[in-house]
Amino acid sequence: MFVLSSSLARVLTVVGTLLAFLLPATSADASSPLRTHAAARGKFIGAALATGPLANESAYRTIAATEFNQITAENAMKWDATEPNQNQFNFSGADAIVNFATQNNQEVHGHTLVWHSQTPGWVQGLSASAMRSAMQNHISRVVGRYADNAAVVSWDVVNEVFDDNGGMRTSFWYNTLGQSFIADAFRAARAADSNARLCINDYNVEGINAKSTAMYNLVRSLRQQGVPVDCVGFQGHLAIQYGFPNDIQQNLQRFADLGVQVRITELDVRMQMPRDASKDATQATYYRNVVNACLAVTACAGVTIWGFTDKHSWVPDTFQGQGAALIYDQNYQPKPSYNAVHDALAGGTTTDNTPPTTPGTPVTGTVTSNSASVTWPASTDTGGSGLAGYNVYREQGATDPLLGQSTTNSITLTGLTPNTQYQVYVRARDGAGNLSGNSPTVAFTTQSGPGGGPCTATGTVQNQWSTGYVVQPVTVTNTGTSAISGWTVTFTLPAGHQLTGSWNASVSVSGQTVTARNAGYNGNLAPNASTSFGFQVSRPNGNTQTPSGYTCA
Ligand code: XIL
Repeated sequence: MFVLSSSLARVLTVVGTLLAFLLPATSADASSPLRTHAAARGKFIGAALATGPLANESAYRTIAATEFNQITAENAMKWDATEPNQNQFNFSGADAIVNFATQNNQEVHGHTLVWHSQTPGWVQGLSASAMRSAMQNHISRVVGRYADNAAVVSWDVVNEVFDDNGGMRTSFWYNTLGQSFIADAFRAARAADSNARLCINDYNVEGINAKSTAMYNLVRSLRQQGVPVDCVGFQGHLAIQYGFPNDIQQNLQRFADLGVQVRITELDVRMQMPRDASKDATQATYYRNVVNACLAVTACAGVTIWGFTDKHSWVPDTFQGQGAALIYDQNYQPKPSYNAVHDALAGGTTTDNTPPTTPGTPVTGTVTSNSASVTWPASTDTGGSGLAGYNVYREQGATDPLLGQSTTNSITLTGLTPNTQYQVYVRARDGAGNLSGNSPTVAFTTQSGPGGGPCTATGTVQNQWSTGYVVQPVTVTNTGTSAISGWTVTFTLPAGHQLTGSWNASVSVSGQTVTARNAGYNGNLAPNASTSFGFQVSRPNGNTQTPSGYTCA
C-alpha cells in the first residue's frame, strides 16, 4: 500500500484541479461515467465484484472498469477463500480482483479479515490461544501479501462484531477470546501494513440507533487506547419497504468528528418483487440520498455498491421475495438508480424533497365496459430531479388502489369492471420519488358488459310431475349501483333433462348448459330492479332432479 503525505496530496489535488480546467476533455461532462464525476468530487464510487462473472462476462468487465474507481471483492478475500485449511493459502480469486483493479486504475478495499461468517470450521474449533495465533497469522499473511501493492489501500479488519441491539455479537470469536480479539486484530493488521487504512464494518448502523451508538463508543474507546482504527464502514444494505435512515449524514458526521474516515461499503437497496416504476423511483431516492450524505461529509471517502447489476446480486438468495437492489438491471441496462447516483455525483448537491405541483382536474374521454381514457392538466417539477410521470388512483376509502401509471398527462385505464362507477384522481411523481398532492376527482361509469352488469338470478320450481317441471319465475335482479341494459343467465340441466319451452328470454342449450339472454323488452334494469323469465323441461320418468347453478352476468 502506498499513501501520499496529506500535504503532497493536497498539492496534487490543486494541480489536478487546474489540469481539469485546462483540459476540458477530462472534466466531468454530463455523460461521463460515475467514476469521473466521483473523482472530480474527491470521492470514490465503487462496486463489489464477483470473480465468476469477472472471468466470464465481457459486459460485466466493461461496466466494472468504466464506471467505478474502487472495487471490493464480494467473496474472494474472505477467510474461507484465502485460507480454507490452516496455513494453506489460496490467493487466486483475490489476485484476480487486485489485478483487475491495477489494470483499470482502481483502488481495492480488502474485505474481510475477521468475521463470524464464511470462516472455515477449523478456525471455529480452536482453543483460545490457538485461535488468537491463527487470527494473527491469517491477518499477517493476507494483509502482508498486498502490503506493497499500490491498489490495495484499506481493509475491513473486523466485520459485524455487534448484535442487532448493540451488544457484542456472541460469535465464536467473542465466545472464545472475549472482546480483546478486536484490538488484537487491528494491531496485527497494522503490523502487516503500516499504511493501509484499517476499518471496522457493520450493517444497520447507517442511522443513529442503539447499534450505531455502540459502534461509536467502541471506536472512540479503541482509539483512546491507541488501537489503530482508522475508518468505519457502513454497509448500507437498505430496503425501500423499511424506510430511509434520514439521519445518515448526521451519523456519518459524528463518526468523522472522532477523527476516523467513514465510507459506505456495501450499498444496495432492495424491494419486494416484482419491480415497478414507482419502486424504482423510490429506490433512486435512496441511492441519491446516500451519495449526497457522503458528499456532504468531508471525511466520507466514497460509496461502494454491493455489486452493480441485478444479474449478480446476493439479495434474491438472501431475502425471500426481494430483489432488483442494484443500479443496472439483469441485462446491464442502467436503471433510475444509476441516474440518481450519476446526477448526485455530477453536482446535484441538494436532495430533491420538493414534490411536483398537483395535477389539474381530470376529464374522461372514451369509456367502454372495461376501459376509460382520462386526461388532466400537467404538473411541473422544480425540485431538480424532474417530472417522472403520474399515478392514477381510484378513490375508494381507506386505501385507494393504484389503477395505472403514465409518463404523460393522459392514460387509458384498462381491466375495469363493467357497469361500475369509478372516482379517480391523479398524483404526479418526480425522479426522486416525491408524490404531489391529489388532483380533484373525476367520476365515470363503465358501460354494461356484453352480458350486462352485476346481477343475480334465482329459479323457483312452480309445478312438477313425474316426467317434467316448470321453473317460474327465474328472477333477475340488478345488484349494481347503476342501470344495466342487458343480462345473461346460465344454469345447468341435470343429465337426461330436455328443455321444451321458454318465455320472456331468448334461450339456447349447449350440452347441459342453458344460456338465457334478456328479451328486447326486459333488458333494462335500474339498480335493485328485477324482472323474470320462465321455462319448461321434460325429464326421465321418476327422476326428481331440477336445475342448479344459476349465474347472472
Ligand atoms: C455476501 C455475499 O454477497 C454473498 O455472495 C455471500 O454468499 C454471503 O456474503 N455483509 C457483508 C458481506 O459484509 O460480506 C456479505 O456478502 C453481505 C453482508
